[in-house]
Amino acid sequence: MESSISASAWSAPPSTIRLDRDEVHIWQAELEESSAQIYRYLDTLAEEEKSRAERLYFQRDRHRFIIAHGILRAILGLYLDRAPHVLSFCYGSHGKPALEFEPVADAIHFNISHSHGVALYAIARGREVGIDVERNRREVDADQIAARFFSPREIATLRGLPADLRKYAFFACWTRKEAYIKARGEGLSLPLDQFDVSLIPGEPAALLCTRPDPDEAGRWSLRELALASGYVAALAVEGRGWSLSCWRWPRPHTYQPRY
Ligand SMILES: CC(C)(COP(=O)(O)OP(=O)(O)OC[C@H]1O[C@@H](n2cnc3c(N)ncnc32)[C@H](O)[C@@H]1OP(=O)(O)O)[C@@H](O)C(=O)NCCC(=O)NCCS
Repeated sequence: MESSISASAWSAPPSTIRLDRDEVHIWQAELEESSAQIYRYLDTLAEEEKSRAERLYFQRDRHRFIIAHGILRAILGLYLDRAPHVLSFCYGSHGKPALEFEPVADAIHFNISHSHGVALYAIARGREVGIDVERNRREVDADQIAARFFSPREIATLRGLPADLRKYAFFACWTRKEAYIKARGEGLSLPLDQFDVSLIPGEPAALLCTRPDPDEAGRWSLRELALASGYVAALAVEGRGWSLSCWRWPRPHTYQPRY
């Protein structure tokens, strides 16, 4: 199986969206829109989403939140053939959002991540997914964060790398760990040092080892997602034997979802 997808693999979506059980779809969106489009997205949000947006201090963050959630609803609407504003969400015990009233066996699962104006959406049928994107920031204190959150094996691997590869490997590790805990939906109640992910640049993304249940590692697949510039991203998917398609969420003038 392919272990990563290159930045050039992101393409425009087909005109009809169809998702089989052995497929995972990723959508990438830029969280910048005209005021008119932001209002259109706002109109599709539930009251609870609108009040979350209102609680954000900076206007840029409010806009990005509205756009990210408006696009989430528009994308899910495509799969469910429903208008974005009629969709409703429920939340797991640690806050993972899911579609409400979905039939269990064949349910559409999704997860989203956003960082510095970019959002990624993972969509799958009948299997859990988790996704994480981080901006590759120079100012991050990688050693301090690694010492606090990574497993002893990951810390040792990171320290053994040449200095010029360490920052990228740090973000690869971070996003893989986050994608996995987001797929599990357990947030930080799942201790980050109880599993090891691969992080050496050039090696495939993988969940190497899980504790205390070693079989857990075999129940998940990890994949690196390459974005155009300055971002690192990873995807975790329940099970194996699935194929990946990566699309860009287009601008409204090129692609208008049904409202
Ligand atoms: C909330 C958390 C799930 C991810 O937070 P994050 O990385 O800051 O943010 P992301 O943009 O990647 O993801 C946020 C989205 O995940 C989803 N989400 C929320 N809770 C979730 C959960 N328990 N499981 C999966 N997804 C969840 C939501 O859709 C949320 O979007 P929203 O806030 O717009 O509604 C959580 O794992 C967390 O707090 N992580 C930080 C852990 C950390 O400090 N790691 C250090 C290095 S490994």
